[in-house]
Amino acid sequence: MPRFRCPDKVNVLLLGTGGREHALLWKLRKSKRLGTLWVEPAANAGMLAMAQVCPEPTNDAFRLARWCERENIALVVVGPEGPLSADIATKLSDPPRRVVFGPTRAGAQLEWDKAFAKQIMRAARVPTADARSFSDAEQALAFVETKVDGCVVKATGLCAGKGVMVCKTPQEAARAVEECLVKKAFGEAGHTILIEDLLTGPELSVLALCDGQSFWILDPAQDHKRVGEGDTGPNTGGMGAFSPTPTATPDVLRIVERDVLVPTVDALKRMDIPFRGVLYAGLMLTPAGPKVLEFNTRFGDPETQPIMARLHGDLVELCWATATGQLSEVDLSFDRRAACCVVVCSRGYPGNYPKGLPIEGLAEAEATERAADEDIIVFHAGTTRKDGKIVTNGGRVVCVTALAENAERASALATLAASKISFDGAFFRKDIGRSLRG
Ligand code: AMP
Ligand code: GLY
Repeated sequence: MPRFRCPDKVNVLLLGTGGREHALLWKLRKSKRLGTLWVEPAANAGMLAMAQVCPEPTNDAFRLARWCERENIALVVVGPEGPLSADIATKLSDPPRRVVFGPTRAGAQLEWDKAFAKQIMRAARVPTADARSFSDAEQALAFVETKVDGCVVKATGLCAGKGVMVCKTPQEAARAVEECLVKKAFGEAGHTILIEDLLTGPELSVLALCDGQSFWILDPAQDHKRVGEGDTGPNTGGMGAFSPTPTATPDVLRIVERDVLVPTVDALKRMDIPFRGVLYAGLMLTPAGPKVLEFNTRFGDPETQPIMARLHGDLVELCWATATGQLSEVDLSFDRRAACCVVVCSRGYPGNYPKGLPIEGLAEAEATERAADEDIIVFHAGTTRKDGKIVTNGGRVVCVTALAENAERASALATLAASKISFDGAFFRKDIGRSLRG
């Protein structure tokens, strides 16, 4: 790649503390361009063991920018949506000395404001469920009475994956409206709601690196959002994911690129918003074709774990190219093996759960017996160190990711390795990728 411009050594600050970030860190550390890698003090125990700790509070962008200056940070990689919605990308970027991987607040509005995302999709004719937005409870209640075939009630702001209620009947929908608009269960994030048509079909996450002009569509991953086996129980941040996925045929990906990614980024461009980062389309493959359920403007968690496990290419270069508009100058490809990630969770998740419980079996999980061409990586998510021991510190605790010749084997191996991890109340779904196991 003769025309690609990037410093030989890049000092990187990685923001975020969970499983997605541990997978990004693991991949960043393989880069030949990596200088010093820094993480937040609140990063999980797995990350802290592999990086320097940035002493500044990450919610104080002014101090953080000064610290970046002193440490000669050239690239900031932003994992979660929170800092993006607080416009960390604008606040920390100082090109050409320092660039940020992740969109500005204006670009991230696709994620932090579902009503805005709907408007953009409507204007750009991106296929999505029909929806109306409401702030007034009476009007919303009158509308859901007409939705006899069910509907979906969504808080428009950021709710950590919890603000979406799939309602089979008008009565359920009325309760969801009351939760948001009367009881204010989601606070500010639920002051406005969307009520949209209920779609059916398998779900697919398509993540693309986007530099404002060009895309690299990453091999898709399939998330498992419900807490219970067989896709039952409440939604979570994600209980596991595998990649590649058989539903993402070349035809589907071509349609998603043509009808979703390109028109969305073009619509933002027309508003003078260059989108640089990950554009993540959460899709439903309906009988009428793929339709967008939501946009995220960052890597998915846990989709990133299997995606990073399979990515060939230098992640520092890819992030740099994305942040500087040079994606057409770099190359990436994927391991032909399949990857499956199983998330081991704390009892009670996605509701309340205890913290501080000692975790056993991390090394045993990684040492699970396997063939020479198979790999197992244990990414930490909600873990921390207490009195020298690794203990739980979140609902999603560790993400056990296996790479194997085919999806069936990766799924079986990840499930077996996850069973070696133990702490009081540990549980995980044993059916991640089971549809592929036959
Ligand atoms: P979202 O955060 O918007 O992706 O929604 C979370 C989950 O709710 C999705 O993964 C779907 O399972 C479900 N969902 C969201 N919108 C719809 C819809 N219009 N029809 C059916 N299910 C939906
Ligand atoms: N796994 C879903 C998300 O990252 O939003």
